[in-house]
Amino acid sequence: MPSFDPFNPPDLPTRYEAMAHFRQICPVAKVADSRWYAASYGGVMTGLKEVETFVGSFVDTSVLPEDEIPVSAIPEPRHGKIRRVINGVLAPHRTMHTDQFIFELANALLDEAEQSHQDTASFDLVQQYVDPIPSTVIAHVLGVPTEDFQKFRQWSDELLENQNAQLDGQPLTLTQTHPEFAAYIQHHIEIRRHAKDPQNDLITRFIRAEIEGEPLSDDMIRTQTINLIIAGNETTRNWLGNYFAALVDDAELYERIRSQPAMREKFLEESLRRDCPVQIVARAAMEDTVLDGQPIPQGDQVVFGIASANRDETIFENPAELIPDRSNLKKHLAFGAGPHICPGASLARLEARIALDVFCKRVSFVSVQAGYEFQYNPVFWALGLRSLPVNLKFAPKASQKR
Ligand code: HEM
Repeated sequence: MPSFDPFNPPDLPTRYEAMAHFRQICPVAKVADSRWYAASYGGVMTGLKEVETFVGSFVDTSVLPEDEIPVSAIPEPRHGKIRRVINGVLAPHRTMHTDQFIFELANALLDEAEQSHQDTASFDLVQQYVDPIPSTVIAHVLGVPTEDFQKFRQWSDELLENQNAQLDGQPLTLTQTHPEFAAYIQHHIEIRRHAKDPQNDLITRFIRAEIEGEPLSDDMIRTQTINLIIAGNETTRNWLGNYFAALVDDAELYERIRSQPAMREKFLEESLRRDCPVQIVARAAMEDTVLDGQPIPQGDQVVFGIASANRDETIFENPAELIPDRSNLKKHLAFGAGPHICPGASLARLEARIALDVFCKRVSFVSVQAGYEFQYNPVFWALGLRSLPVNLKFAPKASQKR
């Protein structure tokens, strides 16, 4: 059995080789004391859906104050009540002209590149195009100044780094983990609590929401808002970076995607499957149970390998290949499954599609810079690029019409 620490996974491709080995030999493997790794599609799907048996997240948050536990770690039935509020505050992004906002943002980012480089440009596709999109969009949806997006990016990174350090220690609330971030959100809660002319932004919708007739406390609004920012930021930028990495590496594929807009949605879903932005989620077993034939004692942690499930060869033929014409394209588990399934999926899909549409319209040719070796962000649960230096050629102005 290869040694495999899902909290400190090996680089690619060794990581995927280890997952394939687990799927074949031992789909639920003991990877540390009281810690298991579930590798098969069936095991991961079952575990994600059985929310009474498998609860929690990477650290034991049950010791934290109830109002400061992020939604992903809250047990039922409380989770369901808070989750309804979160669905309710996120869904109206559709009425906030978010599509137009993303469209203008993506064009503005490419304008900058085009103005500074004219014809063939040298450009960091991840740092200069991909990274600003999710953090600016979440600032728009939250109703805070979009110029603050750089703070969100930096704070999300810092918060994740600080959370990594808590894996083997005492869990902290998000406010304790990043007081500056928390103070910023608290300030915006207070502005909205006293606003004479309330807007329809996400924080205002949290303030107006009720659970069983009771309004939400500031602690809960702050915790869930910070959690939404991190959950939406790291993941979406990883997705965008991963799909662009596939395109810049394969001129034929880029030309196909560029000339056939109808292919794009399928390509995006297939990229989510193969290069899964969230590689794992973790839960604790609430009782003695059996997963994929393996007995799991109460209290043990199970790490559900979403990335491995998405490459399960019994479900997806030739799983390492990007095949946008797959018949079962949408079976991937990149957004999870069951009651915790990602509430931000429609926003993420909107960002991914518009970022790709705008890029295809404006850029006629793109290739990765010679000698670049893919480097990934140091976030153990994610797969995403730190940078992606490319050469790009803009389409003639007439064919870039918006
Ligand atoms: C490509 C982008 C994204 C990916 C791959 C992704 C993936 C996931 C996954 C795998 C889960 C866990 C599901 C489970 O436990 O079954 C999740 C949960 C969650 N995601 Fe996303 N996500 C993305 C974007 C977003 C966005 C844009 C937001 C919000 C703005 C968001 C907010 C959340 C929240 C709040 C949860 C916890 C839900 C719960 O526990 O009930 N995500 N996401």
